[in-house]
Amino acid sequence: MRNDIDNILNKICIKLENTRARCQGTIPYLSRNGHYDNKADKSVQWSLDNGLSWWTNGFWGGLMNQGADLTGEDKFDAECQNEEEMMDSCFSSKWFYGLHHDTGFMWLPMSLYRYMRTGSKESKRRALTAAALLAARFNPAGFIRAWNEEGEDVRAGWSIIDSMMNISLLYWAGKETKDPRFIQIANIHAETVRKNFIRQDGSVCHIVVFNPETGMKEAEKGGQGYKEGSRWTRGQSWGIYGFANAYNHTGKKEFLEASTRIADSFIASIPSSYLIPVDFDQPEKPAYEDSTAAAIAASALITLSEASNKEKYKDIAERILDSLIDDRADFSPETDGILQKCTGSYHGEKDREVNFAYADFYFIEALMKLKGKYRAIW
Ligand code: GLY
Repeated sequence: MRNDIDNILNKICIKLENTRARCQGTIPYLSRNGHYDNKADKSVQWSLDNGLSWWTNGFWGGLMNQGADLTGEDKFDAECQNEEEMMDSCFSSKWFYGLHHDTGFMWLPMSLYRYMRTGSKESKRRALTAAALLAARFNPAGFIRAWNEEGEDVRAGWSIIDSMMNISLLYWAGKETKDPRFIQIANIHAETVRKNFIRQDGSVCHIVVFNPETGMKEAEKGGQGYKEGSRWTRGQSWGIYGFANAYNHTGKKEFLEASTRIADSFIASIPSSYLIPVDFDQPEKPAYEDSTAAAIAASALITLSEASNKEKYKDIAERILDSLIDDRADFSPETDGILQKCTGSYHGEKDREVNFAYADFYFIEALMKLKGKYRAIW
């Protein structure tokens, strides 16, 4: 890499400590002006699929786990534990309807990571509860259901590429409890995604609609990308990473091949700047970017490089990280988010080119992998 990782991680630790002190007791998601919002703030916006059950909430705890690992400081652990306790309300019947397919995103970086780091039985219980909720969304027709109903739209047959990251929770739970049900569900779902989401050119679609009775594929939908049939970059990153993880959990060669195909298609479309657009098929202007896709792809490619024994994937990951460090990172301790130009969805104006806590988590994760400091939570 062009950049010195130790030096970057030192800057990150200083920034993380300042951000922790400013955001203590909150659940940060997004910042537009250098200061994070708070998903635990009931006075702002607390609905069933927002507030405490928002899909990215576990990444604040995840950042605290990374801070604890990088510095050895107890205050990061205390903040993570505090967030876990706040998030326990999601498991209560009052907020139960708010939960969705993203329980892996929520409890892997926060509770599984903390369990791996400290051995906390409470953190383990939370991760297992989240796994049980995810397993309950499995449709025996062959897939894990995404989201909940919206108005009249039941969406019982919807499944999405992001789910490939959530199933790491099932692989872990299966090993932890020695109960193969979790792993069987993860494998059946991953196989369905492999057969139905990957296109001829190796890219993946975001949403597939299955017949919820038969499991037959009925339609593809565009989701958070530019349009139907386009290549939403964060979705591509989830695909690369999710299949590489599934391979690491199972040793199934077809999952490694799937990750490799999606990665090769992704790499063929990376611009010479190594900065990643929101969608590879978006119009040239406006040139919206998504640094979350970049950071996730970098972390995914490092894992794929190790799984496949191919150095080229690590080289690309390092180029992406160098570009983020040189052109899109704000290491100043006075502001909260590191990575600039993160975008939730192409057409969403409220979360376009902002900072996201989860982008920083994957960015730090990738750097920690390069230093051999990663705990295999995915
Ligand atoms: N729900 C995951 C994502 O927006 O990428």
